[in-house]
Amino acid sequence: MAESRTLGDQYPMTNDLCVLYHHPELNENAQRYAPWCQLVSAPAAPTVSQPALFFDHRGMWLCMPGYSTAFQPSDADIQRRVRSRAPTELVRACGMNLDGKRVLDACAGFGGDGLLLAQMGAHVRLIERHRLVWIMLEERARHLSNAETLCVDASQLLRDGGEQEDPWDVILLDPMFPPTNKRALPNRGLQHLRELTESSQTDHDDILPLLARSKQHCRGRIVLKRRLKDSLLERPDFQIKAKSVRFDVYKGLA
Ligand SMILES: C[S@@+](CC[C@H](N)C(=O)[O-])C[C@H]1O[C@@H](n2cnc3c(N)ncnc32)[C@H](O)[C@@H]1O
Repeated sequence: MAESRTLGDQYPMTNDLCVLYHHPELNENAQRYAPWCQLVSAPAAPTVSQPALFFDHRGMWLCMPGYSTAFQPSDADIQRRVRSRAPTELVRACGMNLDGKRVLDACAGFGGDGLLLAQMGAHVRLIERHRLVWIMLEERARHLSNAETLCVDASQLLRDGGEQEDPWDVILLDPMFPPTNKRALPNRGLQHLRELTESSQTDHDDILPLLARSKQHCRGRIVLKRRLKDSLLERPDFQIKAKSVRFDVYKGLA
C-alpha cells in the first residue's frame, strides 16, 4: 500500500468495523482490508441486515439491506466522459488542462468525479470519511498510479495535516446535497451514499468551514458542486452550469 493510504490510521474513524464477505479464492487479496473489516468467506454476495461489502473476481460490491442485488459503481460513465470530445462542465470548472495538476477531491464518495480528473492527467488525492464507502473507493482507485485515497474527514485533514502540504492546484467539494421533497430517486449510487451517510448528514452545515479551509490550502480553484437551484453559500468568482448541477468556482488564497 502506498504510504499515504495508511494515513487513515492517524485519523481513526468512529465507523464500526464492517463485514467484508469475500470469495473463498480471494482470502489473501481481502487481507489488505483486514485492519478495517471483519473478513468472512462467502461464495456469493449475501443478503444482509446491515450494510456490508462483498469482494469477488469482479471487484468490490456494496451489499445493502432491502436490495436483492449488490451494487458496484460503473466505470463506463467515467470512460465515456474521458472519451467525450467536449470537456465536461466539471473539467471546465477545474481549469481544462489538468495534466500534472495536484487535485484534492475532498468529498470523493465512490470517486466518479475524482477518478475522471485522474484519468484526465491530474494527480488526485481522494478523501472519503465513511469507511465502507472509502473501501469501495480504494478498491476502484488503487490501480491508478496518479490516484490515492484516504479515509479521513477533509476538514480535519486540512486543519491538522494541511500545513506540511504544498498548496493544491484544485480542491473539489461535492458534499451530499440536502434532501428535497422531490419524489424522483437519485441514481442507485447516490441513493446508497445517502442511506449510508444519513446519520452523519451534517454535510451542508460543514460546507462553509470546509470552503474557508480549502481557500487557505489552494493556489488555484476551489470548485463547489451544487444543485442548479441551490442558494449561493458565498458569492463565487464565477459559475459553470450544467443541466442539473452547477459548479461555483472560488479562487484559492494560498
Ligand atoms: C455527493 S457524494 C460525492 C460524489 C462524488 N463526487 C462522485 O462523483 O461519486 C459526497 C461524499 O462526500 C463524503 N463527505 C462529505 N463531507 C466530507 C468530509 N468533510 N470529509 C470527507 N468526506 C466527506 C460523504 O461521505 C459522501 O460519500
